[in-house]
Amino acid sequence: MKVSIKKTKQSEKTLAVFICKGKFPEVLNPYKKDIQNVLKEIDFKGNKKTSVFLPLTNSKSHKYIMILGLGEENSFDYEGVRQAGAKMYKELKRHNQKTADVLVESFVTKHTKDVNQICQAFTESVILSSYKCDEFKKPKKEEKDLKELFICLSSNKNSSCEKAVKEGAILATAANFAKRLANYPGNLMTPSILANEIQEQTKNTKIKTTVWDKKRIEKEKMGGLLGVSLGSPQEPRFIIMEYKGSAKKPVILVGKGLTFDSGGISLKPAQAMDEMKFDMCGSTAVAGAMLAIEKLGLKAHVIGLIPSSENMPGQNANKPGDILKARNGKTMEVLNTDAEGRLILADALSYASEKKPQAIFDAATLTGAIIGALGNLFTGFFTKNENLAKKIFQAGEKTGERVWRLPLTEEHTSDIKSGIADVANISSNRGAGSSTAAAFLEHFVDKDIPWAHFDIAGTAWNVHNRLEYCNPKQASGVMVRTFVELARSYQ
Ligand code: BES
Ligand code: ZN
Ligand code: ZN
Repeated sequence: MKVSIKKTKQSEKTLAVFICKGKFPEVLNPYKKDIQNVLKEIDFKGNKKTSVFLPLTNSKSHKYIMILGLGEENSFDYEGVRQAGAKMYKELKRHNQKTADVLVESFVTKHTKDVNQICQAFTESVILSSYKCDEFKKPKKEEKDLKELFICLSSNKNSSCEKAVKEGAILATAANFAKRLANYPGNLMTPSILANEIQEQTKNTKIKTTVWDKKRIEKEKMGGLLGVSLGSPQEPRFIIMEYKGSAKKPVILVGKGLTFDSGGISLKPAQAMDEMKFDMCGSTAVAGAMLAIEKLGLKAHVIGLIPSSENMPGQNANKPGDILKARNGKTMEVLNTDAEGRLILADALSYASEKKPQAIFDAATLTGAIIGALGNLFTGFFTKNENLAKKIFQAGEKTGERVWRLPLTEEHTSDIKSGIADVANISSNRGAGSSTAAAFLEHFVDKDIPWAHFDIAGTAWNVHNRLEYCNPKQASGVMVRTFVELARSYQ
């Protein structure tokens, strides 16, 4: 669905008013007669995720009013704006409303004073909500869905929210692009299709996209990426996206692009194996972020790197015990072919280090263990650099994508020692699987480069009903907005 968020008033029909728990804001005064009794009757208090939709009898401009609860004022923040905006979107659709009039001041509380930030968060939420994964279904003849929704966002005081609306739209559209690619099933999204899609999307932009095929990957000594791809007839790809918004050293974003992870010879159990089509969500986060960075015109030099492969148990597949050599010369003992993400990231991180960047950030659906540790709401991150950790917390705070730091220590490094190669791809100890995976990746990043790894296995899809603007089962687009925010800090 198309969503237009405009400042100019049109023939709005529904007035959307957002209220904190126990409050009755002034804007509601003219409609007291219409609403007071009903609110009392249904005991509407302004709790989070609650709403009422009522006809108005004595208003010239609006036919209906929608009142939405924001919860306690004390705990309301910009992420609350997103959640409420998404709830409004759903309710408008449910009531078949095409136009809504939203007053920005509805959201101003003691923790949310910045009107621009409100406008940006609100726009993000509505556009994120508007993404629907319906391209694999035969179109219904009688499409009841609204085709377009007009939301008029207006403010009494501030007239400069247009830029904020524009930025919010760019970020959410990029996240929706990431979701769309990630939702494709494995048969329709292979490494070469992914590379083509990215090439297509970056065609008329300032992003220079280069794609390496199998031959080139071999020539570039990317033994991890090559090794993982051997069990599949689908060739691997290494995708490089470069945006030079400044002459400074680059910031590099790396994303795991496993278009399907069957586990390989160490085959996964059948249950939920279909979800392994999402094992490329790190790569889509990078691609989405790069698109947004370019559209926003950030004055930063950013490179996106995507190693992409299938992990299948074909006749040439890696076998447990095989040894692969990564681009930086280190050898990796493949004790479990299902721990393949780290093998392809090894080459990408080695390549990234050669560029002597200001920082490297990677996102990967790397371990099932992170789901056990943090569930579906927090992305776990690992870094030994305090400054970077601070930056990451700040970025997460700004975008509402919640992050939590987990330990990465020399004990984790000794857990992945190999008797025969430089490093083993699984731990010799039980537990801390996400930390030992991070310790593996660390082998491929130059010591003096600030680096952080995000394990998004819990947050990239299947976020249940926690985030109002995300499909509960499909891809969430996580990290697109946080990556952009991080890139912003290197301007
Ligand atoms: N792609 C998976 C991680 C994963 C598992 C993400 C379940 C989301 C849900 C990764 O390649 C993998 O299989 N990791 C193994 C590592 C193990 C063999 C050390 C895992 O987590 O079980
Ligand atoms: Zn795996
Ligand atoms: Zn995987």
